[in-house]
Amino acid sequence: MQTQVQEIKTAALEACSQASTVQELNQARVKYLGKKGELTLILRSMGQLPSEERPLFGKLVNEVRDELEQALKTRELELSAAEEQERLMGESLDITLPGRKVARGTLHPVTQIINETKVIFMEMGYEIVEGPEVEWDYYNFEALNIPPDHPARDMQDTFFITEDLLLRSQTSPVQIHVMEKQEPPIRIVAPGKVYRADSDVTHSPMFHQIEGLVVDKGITFADLKGTLQLFAEKMFGPETKIRLRPSYFPFTEPSAEVDVSCIICKGDGCRVCSDTGWLEILGAGMVDPRVLVKVGYDPAEVTGFAFGVGVERMAMLKYGINDIRLLFENDVRFLEQFTS
Ligand code: DAH
Repeated sequence: MQTQVQEIKTAALEACSQASTVQELNQARVKYLGKKGELTLILRSMGQLPSEERPLFGKLVNEVRDELEQALKTRELELSAAEEQERLMGESLDITLPGRKVARGTLHPVTQIINETKVIFMEMGYEIVEGPEVEWDYYNFEALNIPPDHPARDMQDTFFITEDLLLRSQTSPVQIHVMEKQEPPIRIVAPGKVYRADSDVTHSPMFHQIEGLVVDKGITFADLKGTLQLFAEKMFGPETKIRLRPSYFPFTEPSAEVDVSCIICKGDGCRVCSDTGWLEILGAGMVDPRVLVKVGYDPAEVTGFAFGVGVERMAMLKYGINDIRLLFENDVRFLEQFTS
């Protein structure tokens, strides 16, 4: 039995030094020192020995066990240090690697134009207001001097919800909301969505307008012209000129359509301006006295001007976009070009 113990010792020490992972080492520990380990079993079978041999044998087995435990502990320290080292190596950071670029979003070109317009008018002392997109017929038409059977209603293909409720076809109704609530002086711009049953390369069923309204004592057509000239220069560049053509809107008198000198050819004539040198960008005029009366103002006391500009139209002209639908498809490859 002594030789057996010596054999176990040799094999166990061998297994211990051969173990290449902490896990393998634990297997060896179980195999020799576990409850059913070889050394444990042999100690238990000691009863077969004559009693005088037992103490010596017991001592031997204990010595072997101590030695084995010591060897296991030493090897375990070695192995766990090596494993830790390997883990750290795998985790190491290469601080010389170039960083990964964070993709930055940009504001939608429509939002950019709205923001630029707001800033231009805020600098002139205007307030920014908003109105509802679902609107009463009264505000969208009647109060703006467009009675139910008026042919001017045909200018706008309107989405009706009920007989007197609709999706606003213009931002002009915001004028009425503001004048109903406030006394002059009034100086506002009102950006927002508008809706018309119309769809092709230059029309979208939903698009954006920005309405402007100024009412005070002594406001004249010259104020309107000067304001729009300044706006055009700030929006399209200092060389930009404007031109007013007589027009008709039911809520302004007189009314004008306003052109800016072509921002592509600077007025020489090109494809974008159909060789005219001018681009139409907005409608404007002096607020019709009937509109002022409807909101309880006295046209003998105060006068005003108003204008309405299409946001998508400005974006298309400014960025050379030839199809309005590109603005609403939200293809990131398209939008990425408009870094702010
Ligand atoms: N609301 C008009 C439209 O959508 C645009 C407009 C024209 C607005 C003249 C105005 C204005 O305030 O004075 O066609």
